[in-house]
Amino acid sequence: MGVILASAGSAVGLGNIWRFPTEVGSNGGAAFILVYLGFVIFLALPVMVCEFLMGRSSHSNTVGAWKVLAPGSPLIVAGYMGIVAGVLILSFYSVVAGWTLDYTVLSLTCQLSGSQDYASVFQSFVANPWKPIVFLVLFLLVTHWIVVRGVERGIERYSKLMMPMLLLIILVLVVYAVNMPGAEKGLAFLLHPDFSKLTPRVALSAMGQALFSLSVGIGCLTTYASYFRKETRLMSSALSVCLIDTLVAVMSGFIIFPAVFSVQGVGVDEGPGLVFITLPYVFDSAFRGMPVLGYIFSGLFYLLLMLAALTSSISMHEIATAFLTDRSTDRSATDRLQGKAYEEERRRAARIVTTVCILLGTACSLSFGPWKDYTLLGMGVFEWFDYVTAKFCMPLGALIISIFVGWMMPQREVRAQLTNWETLPVRLYGIFRFLARWVAPLGVTIVFINELLGHGA
Ligand code: ALA
Repeated sequence: MGVILASAGSAVGLGNIWRFPTEVGSNGGAAFILVYLGFVIFLALPVMVCEFLMGRSSHSNTVGAWKVLAPGSPLIVAGYMGIVAGVLILSFYSVVAGWTLDYTVLSLTCQLSGSQDYASVFQSFVANPWKPIVFLVLFLLVTHWIVVRGVERGIERYSKLMMPMLLLIILVLVVYAVNMPGAEKGLAFLLHPDFSKLTPRVALSAMGQALFSLSVGIGCLTTYASYFRKETRLMSSALSVCLIDTLVAVMSGFIIFPAVFSVQGVGVDEGPGLVFITLPYVFDSAFRGMPVLGYIFSGLFYLLLMLAALTSSISMHEIATAFLTDRSTDRSATDRLQGKAYEEERRRAARIVTTVCILLGTACSLSFGPWKDYTLLGMGVFEWFDYVTAKFCMPLGALIISIFVGWMMPQREVRAQLTNWETLPVRLYGIFRFLARWVAPLGVTIVFINELLGHGA
């Protein structure tokens, strides 16, 4: 399997194009982006390397890795937490992917055009009691289908063509968006940091976004890395994935914010609807003179976005599916590959995961409509799932993983994994070790303590 391709497929998705602009908008713009970049470099990147080496060293899924590498240790709780978090993420993620699917259909059937009020279009769609659920179920069924067909075949086939096409379309959209009237204000919002907006709560959001966007902290990459080959270069692969992912996120900021400031009545802190409300205006203005091209172009964009979401959703699905399959067949990645019994177990495991996600996803979807008023501390089901996973499970998982690899795992094995058994130069090993031992754990701890002490206003 193309390692970078698969891991980048897991990383790049709605986290970059939907969640990143939403968080940037709600957390004050440029200053948030700077803190986010800090967390990508000093936390998400080293922990991604930790997950890679745990997966390849143990040849096992997220729970199995702890069993192999730290037998009897209570740290295995990070493995179980990863499985729960993966299921919760997949549940709310599929809701947004379902919206994307709907927007694909609307674009290709010429229903998303002209002088509509796109905020109302979005609100009335998500509040519908059954339509978004149909789309979310469809999305989960496609995810399920790819997962049971096998990780390698599934991911490779769908990622290879899709990723470059998505990047190309994003690039074209950036060019259009930064030329929209009023775009300067959006660019200022992205480029001129206002540090007075930095609060502990913003730091927590930036940390959560960095981990969410890179699928770090829940064993997703451990599970993938259990399939990696001996020759795979873990550090340079992680670096490439972080670069691609960050590039896509920042570029989507450069589409959304110039457009937000160019459109009347849309605020930067619009929340989860921001991207779905803003983008149709960008397509509208870009293709005013040639609407048919506009429909095709926007349909293609939403389709590719949905496919990018798919390569992320299969990685989330795979965490729990690999765990359930390996648990019942007692197999590791080295001998997972064949066998009818194994295939049957895998299908059964995938069915369980998909069913649970459909049920939980339905609850998330309803929280935008009929269940809108059921909130706890001001948040509905969707927001709770997002909060608990990105701002609690992923950072806690990253903390435990970095402490384990930095301090407890035999350093001979860590070094062997990172230098591919001393066949690669060791230059970056010292930097990695410092980040994994000190910077990553302290970073998470400080942000958590600030939040717990109630400075999170
Ligand atoms: N890392 C995945 C994304 O960004 C969840 O979409």
